[in-house]
Amino acid sequence: MEEKKANSLSCPVCSALHIPQKQNLKNGIFMGTCQSCGHFFKFRCSNSVESSITITVNGKSYSVGSEYSGSTTLNSFLRDSRISTGTKYMCKEGGCGTCLVQAKLYEPITMEKQSYAVNSCLVPLFSCDGWEVTTIEGVDSISVQAVPKRLAQYNGSQCGFCSPGQVMNIHALLDYHGGAVTKQMVEDASDSVICRCTGFRPILDAMKSFAEDVPDIEDVHTKRCDRTGQTCTGSCHKQSSQLALKDAQWFKPSTVPDLIKMIKDNKGRNYRLVFGNTGFGVYKELDPKNFDVLIDLRGVTELYGIDFDPTIVLGSGLSLSQLYDVLYRGSNEPQFGYFKEMCKIISKVATSSVRNLGTWAGNLMLKHKHPEFQSDIYTMLEAVRAQLNIVVNGETRVIPISEFLSQDMTDSVIVAMFLNSIPDSHHIRVYKVNKRTQSAHSDVNAGMNFDIDVTQNFRVKSQPTIVFGGISKSFVHATKTEEYLVGKALGDQNTLIGALTILSQELIPDDSDQNLTSADFRKSVAMGLFYRFVLDVLGNSVGPAFTSGSTPLTRPLSSGRQTYDTQPLEWPLTQPMTKVEAVNQASGRAVYINDIAGQPGECYAAFVLSTEANAKIQSIDPTEALAIPGVLKFIAAKDIPGSNNISPPPLQTEEVLASDRVEYYDQAIGILVAESQTIVDSAVSKVKVTYTDVQPPILTMEDAIDKQSIFPKVADEIKVGDAEGAIAKSAVKVTGRIKCGTQYHMAMETQITICNPTEDGFDVYSSTQWVDVCQKSIAMVLGIPDSSISVSVRRLGGAYGSKISRNFIVAAGCALASNALKRPVRLCLDFHVNMKMVGKRFPWMADYTIGLSSDGMLEGIKLTYYTDCGINSVENGLAGVAIGMDNAYYCPNWHVIPVALKTNTATNTACRSPGSCPTIFIMESIMEHCAKMLGKDPTDFRIQNLYQKGQVTPAKMPLTYCNIRELTNQLKNAAQLTFQLLSLVSSFNQANRWKKKGLSVVPMKFGIDWTGANYTALVAIHGYDGSVSISHGGIESGQGINTKVIQVCAATLGIPMDIIRVKPTDSLSTANSVTTGGSITSELCCNAVLQCCDALNKRIALVKQKMAGKAWKDIIFQCFSENIDLSERYWEAPNSPNVFQYNSYGATLTEVTLDVLTGQHIIDRVDMLFDCGDSMNPEIDIGQCEGAFVMGLGYFLLEEIKYDQKTGQQLTDGTWEYKVPLAKDIPVDFRINLLKNAPNPLGILRAKACGEPPLCMSCSALFAIKHAVEAFRRDIEKDTYFALDAPATVEKVHQACMIDASQFIIQ
Ligand SMILES: Cc1cc2nc3c(=O)[nH]c(=O)nc-3n(C[C@H](O)[C@H](O)[C@H](O)COP(=O)(O)OP(=O)(O)OC[C@H]3O[C@@H](n4cnc5c(N)ncnc54)[C@H](O)[C@@H]3O)c2cc1C
Ligand code: FES
Ligand code: FES
Repeated sequence: MEEKKANSLSCPVCSALHIPQKQNLKNGIFMGTCQSCGHFFKFRCSNSVESSITITVNGKSYSVGSEYSGSTTLNSFLRDSRISTGTKYMCKEGGCGTCLVQAKLYEPITMEKQSYAVNSCLVPLFSCDGWEVTTIEGVDSISVQAVPKRLAQYNGSQCGFCSPGQVMNIHALLDYHGGAVTKQMVEDASDSVICRCTGFRPILDAMKSFAEDVPDIEDVHTKRCDRTGQTCTGSCHKQSSQLALKDAQWFKPSTVPDLIKMIKDNKGRNYRLVFGNTGFGVYKELDPKNFDVLIDLRGVTELYGIDFDPTIVLGSGLSLSQLYDVLYRGSNEPQFGYFKEMCKIISKVATSSVRNLGTWAGNLMLKHKHPEFQSDIYTMLEAVRAQLNIVVNGETRVIPISEFLSQDMTDSVIVAMFLNSIPDSHHIRVYKVNKRTQSAHSDVNAGMNFDIDVTQNFRVKSQPTIVFGGISKSFVHATKTEEYLVGKALGDQNTLIGALTILSQELIPDDSDQNLTSADFRKSVAMGLFYRFVLDVLGNSVGPAFTSGSTPLTRPLSSGRQTYDTQPLEWPLTQPMTKVEAVNQASGRAVYINDIAGQPGECYAAFVLSTEANAKIQSIDPTEALAIPGVLKFIAAKDIPGSNNISPPPLQTEEVLASDRVEYYDQAIGILVAESQTIVDSAVSKVKVTYTDVQPPILTMEDAIDKQSIFPKVADEIKVGDAEGAIAKSAVKVTGRIKCGTQYHMAMETQITICNPTEDGFDVYSSTQWVDVCQKSIAMVLGIPDSSISVSVRRLGGAYGSKISRNFIVAAGCALASNALKRPVRLCLDFHVNMKMVGKRFPWMADYTIGLSSDGMLEGIKLTYYTDCGINSVENGLAGVAIGMDNAYYCPNWHVIPVALKTNTATNTACRSPGSCPTIFIMESIMEHCAKMLGKDPTDFRIQNLYQKGQVTPAKMPLTYCNIRELTNQLKNAAQLTFQLLSLVSSFNQANRWKKKGLSVVPMKFGIDWTGANYTALVAIHGYDGSVSISHGGIESGQGINTKVIQVCAATLGIPMDIIRVKPTDSLSTANSVTTGGSITSELCCNAVLQCCDALNKRIALVKQKMAGKAWKDIIFQCFSENIDLSERYWEAPNSPNVFQYNSYGATLTEVTLDVLTGQHIIDRVDMLFDCGDSMNPEIDIGQCEGAFVMGLGYFLLEEIKYDQKTGQQLTDGTWEYKVPLAKDIPVDFRINLLKNAPNPLGILRAKACGEPPLCMSCSALFAIKHAVEAFRRDIEKDTYFALDAPATVEKVHQACMIDASQFIIQ
């Protein structure tokens, strides 16, 4: 008889893997016949063998077993089994939060199970044994207290894709605290879920509304086990056990000895310990699918140990959230005050939901495996000189943390950490400098621990600890500096100089990883953090201006104010109300494309991507991929039945699949189709592609200019007056270059298409903003009539331009697969593929020469605009130059030369304000430059040059209605941008060397262009009950278009809104509609619906008159009985007399505080005054202003795409490196004011568009930061002009400050 070991379920004869069933077990012996060779075999079992686990979801119990693989996540289980399609996913790496669910996990302080929000994409399904999970479907959405309803009421759901995640996040927090939360707690927990639409303010307000009347936040709500009624011991499975899954073994030890035995039994095998599995979010090699054996630590009760007597022992099973809680509670004990410092840093690690899952021990092991990992936990534990209790080869050892990285951890376990009391004479600090306020890994972190004698000029009593993370693989301690400082007085400037000199020598950052911030930045920041620490130690004994360097920035609670006009007599027109779909979205009931149930026989497609950026394809060999069971088909360019082109004429041709050359890394080469998503995802890399003629890629605009990689004749030069002549005569000439980068749209729903073959073609659900061309692209590649393709779109989970033309390749690819197999196919781009394969916002650059009069009037502007189109200029951003290039300023002479550059990157595309956002930024940068050269205040200089009513723009538009001067002055008054505020900022800057404030006002003119647009609307009144269905040519993607058309319809027909429904947009009812974009779709669809309703009103007028006083439904039924046609269609195809229909105006004031030593900032306040005409729906329009502004903050301050300069591979391809704004990146005080009493005579129903214009004013934050930098540079006497390109990341801002260690003085 065999002894049952880790692989005990393999047949001893043929090694076939067997899944043990409980009924085959008797007295610890497993008996069975091998299903492969028929051999009868027996095993003695050392653990109980389970064939399934039990998980409870929304109160219903599910038994899951070997039908799932060991790498199945809770998210896949919930979605694939359709238990919860309200639970979404995007990144599958812990970075977006759309997948949050609530789970009851063991909480070792109360020894009860508590509710936590967790990322279901990271949780392995088989970790969930005995878990009680609540998904969005299990959450109350009806009652007054219901979180989904609250989120909707506060207008916190636009596209709605993030909304279930937002709800689950707060729901779990409330549940954990028994409803007793403070606003601060809510805001701190807001780091888990990205929202790309709302700008977070309404989400924060909605969630903080639960924080009112909190009785006692310390009173932790405790619960008993629902099963037993007893206090929880951490594991429902008292006994160790194991599961044999189809591809792996899942061991569940319940004691440390069992754990050690399991490790011993599996020695030499491909096994992995698992706790939270969040490490997989950082390092993909930890994916459970890469292991044969997984040993789940969650059930090991001893690992949750917390002991405070005599030393503090904290088990390795404590999640980071639990570690925080334990330390927070202990931080008031004498000699344990340093716990507060630990709490500060723990709260900055990852997101709150990741901290709920991930353990400190798992974090340390990531550092152990990857010494380059910028672990905040390791740095923190080094600073407090923790010790670790580890078990190595069955032997327990206690090692100081300083020995951990050199300890061989093979077959070892971290069991606990020990923390000692530290006398109050120790000064301990831990710092973290990163790209984004929340949820971003450190660029540099630092931990310092000094024993100080304050009475002796701050003498360092013993060897201190100075640790830095993020420097290099091998750098931990600044040992030489530590040694130098022993016995030295920190209060002596010479000590500081000596220490900085040594530190500078020993800090040698590794610069080999192009994804990291530069070595210079990391070194300078590390030096600055050491200086910060010294200032902090010295406290008030340093010169008053220098104390500002002693602490990082602290962000107060945020708030917002909104003001607007409404006309109650006209309601529902102009009525502030949330989106009609908001509650459905927030409660997970809204259906997005990937939530649509698969048709029988559905299969899954994925693109095979190139691994060269500029090469000829030599061969493609899919044999290996096709040999994988479940892989069905490979399609290459040669297999396309129609034309290999997704852009109908007159657009420039664009291939679906590269046929000859690949022109960027990650370009689509083929399509693979398989029976499941998992199979296709793992098979794509098995398609072998070889290349010849590999050429170096062109990746930057400068390189493209050098190599003359230019698309010819893409746009015309613009000439107004004689710019060269005017500049030559001008008293002052200013010349410069400014740049702004690209931006990934980060629509939370990635590109997706489902194609179902029908008897006459295909039914298509596609995430497109342009149904018409989506239909056309599919028809072109299949070589069939457009009428064979029926496209339907109900809603998009965010778009922002990414789904205009960039969706076509996905739609066409899906259709090719469906056509080839004659089966339904789903093609949902993996988030990382979406980031790499799909084009983004056009990067821009401008070379300018400006002529100015001596008193500061613009006289001539000569501009060469470069835009980086990627490999194809099909969307040519230069077409938008005329919208924004003058922004709000008059200049009589212009010469504009547009240049479209070709680089080896994906074809770029429209992104919210594609032309105006960069060109307004460029114009504003020019204004800054000119003001500096003239020695003028930039705001005064701007106001001096603002347009006057009646002047003509370079786009030849006479400004008959222009309120930019009044509006800017009104903003200045409303925001109290008075002499007083300016002098407050100036005195703050004088008083503080290392913190600086900056202010900036950016006015804006934004041309709204209707010409060439067309949208159809169809309104049908149903004869039997008078309810109304609408279909319109726009695509609801969060902007509230459906709500606005319902408002218009209700107001025009005189009926209540709740009997009106908007149906999905489709290629039949609203055929030939143009793309949704350019901010105009809502207003034009409203007009189309208005026209339909007017026509219907005329048709029913006679009956209505005859039946005066009767109910609407009776009137309609009578019309129906009289054969009156109750449906109306309208084709809206406006033609503006001018180049633009009208202009939107606005002005924004931004105030920031800059932490000079690190380059980090806080946006203290934003006041925006925006002319929205008579807003159709102020609540929705304010949502657009806030959302656009915050997306712009991401563009101007945070978001950076990097490429490997050699290969052309995009390095920033996930949430780990690419950072969009989170809730604490928005203005602390965010005020949006819609201009009152401003009806727009040229708009629909007197309103103005607002989807894009407010984004263009977010560059005011960049300029405010620039002014703060200037204030610092004045102090160090380097106040020269400098260009601040976008994005002005923490790194760039820090570098602009021109800090060097000689400035680190204490008096
Ligand atoms: C989105 C995101 C953001 C993050 N941001 C930060 C950040 O800002 N700063 C930072 O420092 N970290 C950050 N992290 C890392 C995070 O802290 C770790 O992923 C987490 O702490 C790992 O714990 P875990 O329990 O999930 O480990 P797992 O993922 O389960 O395991 C990770 C590794 O540790 C091993 N392991 C786990 N427990 C033990 C044990 N007791 N003994 C021996 N080996 C063990 C496993 O075998 C595995 O190799 C982030 C992670 C994510 C996903
Ligand atoms: S899908 Fe889980 S965090 Fe993004
Ligand atoms: S509403 Fe949050 S991502 Fe769209």
